[in-house]
Amino acid sequence: MANEGLPGGPLPGLTRWQQLRFEEGRLLFENEFALADGLGPAYNAKSCKTCHGGKGTSGGAGFSPLQTIDLVAKRQPKSRFPATQKASDIFSKTEAADLDYFLKSGGPVVLRNSITDDAGLKLPPGCKYESLKAKPSDAEFVSKRYAPQLYGLGFINSISDGALSYWQNRQAQPGGAGGKTAQLKAVSAVLQSTGRFGSKAQEATLIQYIARDLCGQIGITNPLNKGNSASSVIPDCLKNLLPADPNDDGSKLSKINFYLSLLAPPPRAVMSPAARRGEQRFQTIGCASCHMPAMQTPEKVYLINPDCPLSEVLSGTAEDARSSSLADEKPKFVEVKALEDKQMQAYSDLLLHDLGPGLADGYAEGAAGGSQWRSAPLWGLRYRRYYLHDGRAASLSAAIRLHGGQAAASAKAFAALSEVEKRELLAFLESL
Ligand code: HEC
Ligand code: HEC
Repeated sequence: MANEGLPGGPLPGLTRWQQLRFEEGRLLFENEFALADGLGPAYNAKSCKTCHGGKGTSGGAGFSPLQTIDLVAKRQPKSRFPATQKASDIFSKTEAADLDYFLKSGGPVVLRNSITDDAGLKLPPGCKYESLKAKPSDAEFVSKRYAPQLYGLGFINSISDGALSYWQNRQAQPGGAGGKTAQLKAVSAVLQSTGRFGSKAQEATLIQYIARDLCGQIGITNPLNKGNSASSVIPDCLKNLLPADPNDDGSKLSKINFYLSLLAPPPRAVMSPAARRGEQRFQTIGCASCHMPAMQTPEKVYLINPDCPLSEVLSGTAEDARSSSLADEKPKFVEVKALEDKQMQAYSDLLLHDLGPGLADGYAEGAAGGSQWRSAPLWGLRYRRYYLHDGRAASLSAAIRLHGGQAAASAKAFAALSEVEKRELLAFLESL
């Protein structure tokens, strides 16, 4: 591969057909969407790569403030928390049902750009369009998120809901890390329903997360995300000027899904003896109980066939998602051997943990409450410059220091290490 040793290439062992579809998806990931494609009307960026593009690679995280997003909410009018209670006092207690996500004003995502001023669309006289361009003054909960690397996500997508429940049960035992699965609603019989994508595990499948950002960040409506987050505030006089919904019939979504599913995990560095000692310590001070070093992918892995219309795929049965019929000219799913029975070294249990008041933001999302976060996968750490969900930590030791709640004991154990031991542990993290 051109990128030998660098992240951004496909998994090894793809068939010729898979490689071609991977390339096709990569082009769409880098593509700048235009007015005619359905861009906006409000949006944060014109391409996936703008946010998920590192040094010359697609799928990586960059370091610009434009690669962060803001999610906003306030408590419901009939909230169980009285208005007299300070928002910061209820950060750890909020659940999705407690919050008003500014949907009526185009929330929950603040969208910095709109086609009426950035992409040059002229509105007819008297037609007014106002999207949510800045945090509303009455927003009580603002969650900043920093765009992550997208390497290796096909592995994470392949882990079964059952496996995540199994790890939850293991962690529920005395002395366990107490992680919780994010139980979400299944939107189709062919899709799993335990959250594992996003820093609050707010989506269960890769294609759903892609649909969320394709629509939510760029404004391209699609079969899995029909309303642009700003669609409720689009006046008819503007709607008439826009391409019909859904902007993408699912073919672009499906191709990007295939690309990201086959994007290889970041390559690991050779470990020095010091890093090996750090790896040991990572286990003994309890980091590995949440940042689980490895999970095994299933023996059979099927991906949504980008050549089959997505609407057909989504109306399929659970059985379709576990098979690929050779008799079918365009099967709904295709088997991908490159993802099968592999050791995934993501360093995450993909479960939700309460990390305490320091990191809590009150922004409940999906099944996660205001202080819960998915154990961040640590693979690819050496390609990152900022850490934690909002990039607030500029060094690995700062990120560890900020761990509280269920991770407080292991953060304390880290603080108690000698300088040499700390350096060894950091050397291990920097090898990932
Ligand atoms: C304006 C910036 C922005 C754009 C544009 C954007 N994203 Fe994202 N994306 C983010 C942020 C921020 C997050 C992290 C959200 C969180 O932590 O909950 C994210 C998360 C994701 C995730 C979840 C990753 C994980 O590890 O769980 C996927 C997958 C993803 N984006 C894919 C895409 C694709 C594909 C596109 C283009 C269709 C895209 N994104 C466009 C900012 C963006
Ligand atoms: C109880 C579970 C738990 C334990 C124990 C734990 N972590 Fe974490 N870790 C998390 C969660 C959850 C996050 C995500 C927090 C966020 O994004 O705000 C995280 C984030 C991180 C990050 C930032 C990753 C990134 O991509 O930004 C690093 C680095 C990290 N942990 C290292 C460690 C180390 C080292 C230890 C042991 C001293 C440790 N963690 C112990 C749950 C845990």
